[in-house]
Amino acid sequence: MKILITGASRGIGKSLAKYYKHQGFKIYGIARDEEALKKICDEYFVCDLSNLDEVSVVSKKLSDIKFDKIILNAGISTPHSRDFPTINAFKKVIDVNLLSIHALLEYIDFKDSKLVFISSLASLLGAPTSLAYSASKRALNSYAESLYFAGIDVVLILPGFIKTDMTKNHTFTMPFLMDLDDATLRIVKIIKKDKFFNPFPLRFYYIIKLFTLLPNNLKRKILKKYAKSDIVE
Ligand SMILES: NC(=O)c1ccc[n+]([C@@H]2O[C@H](COP(=O)([O-])OP(=O)(O)OC[C@H]3O[C@@H](n4cnc5c(N)ncnc54)[C@H](OP(=O)(O)O)[C@@H]3O)[C@@H](O)[C@H]2O)c1
Repeated sequence: MKILITGASRGIGKSLAKYYKHQGFKIYGIARDEEALKKICDEYFVCDLSNLDEVSVVSKKLSDIKFDKIILNAGISTPHSRDFPTINAFKKVIDVNLLSIHALLEYIDFKDSKLVFISSLASLLGAPTSLAYSASKRALNSYAESLYFAGIDVVLILPGFIKTDMTKNHTFTMPFLMDLDDATLRIVKIIKKDKFFNPFPLRFYYIIKLFTLLPNNLKRKILKKYAKSDIVE
């Protein structure tokens, strides 16, 4: 049993790698931090996912391997801010969160694999403080949906806030913030089921869905008041 996990060095990816290793899977990991990958993965590839040429090299190296599951987890965000991001910052988010996935899958034979996409509840709403991140994850949802309708075994997961490096500097209130272990078990449970669309926690998902049903000018007023910048980096 072989599993490929991007972003296996930290956070959700590392936690999933540990879980599946314990279950007897052979773990193939991708990230930039070699020391961290070494500790957890059976095979690893040090790769900057924002460099698509590097990703293509890894994809070719993996072309002969049949994976049971491929967990496309690595992701980044710009700091939450109403500031208009530079094109370089915006491009990096799109490269890591979206284009690297296509570059990685290009040479891998994934027809018989389960493809797991880690999107976000942030993909459901174009929040003014996460321009690049929301756009990248919304595009990811569409990409995953296309593969699903093409007949591939696809699981799309949209988590809410989880305690990892990604959220540790957030100064705003994060509703329904989850512990990493709890979120990992939820993700594992979702992966076992054969369902395409998997937002969680559901209470947060339904609140966002209800919000999206409001008239646009009201949504705008609310977001203007409550979606605040919180640059800490
Ligand atoms: N935490 C949350 O609240 C939350 C909520 C919804 C969705 N998500 C999604 O869940 C996924 C994992 O997030 P997380 O919270 O676990 O984040 P994290 O703790 O910051 O970990 C990010 C992982 O991605 C890898 N990564 C980042 N940039 C990379 C690059 N340029 N090249 C290669 N690897 C790179 C990192 O490895 P290296 O630094 O070693 O390269 C690390 O393993 C992301 O897609 C994120 O959008 C997170």
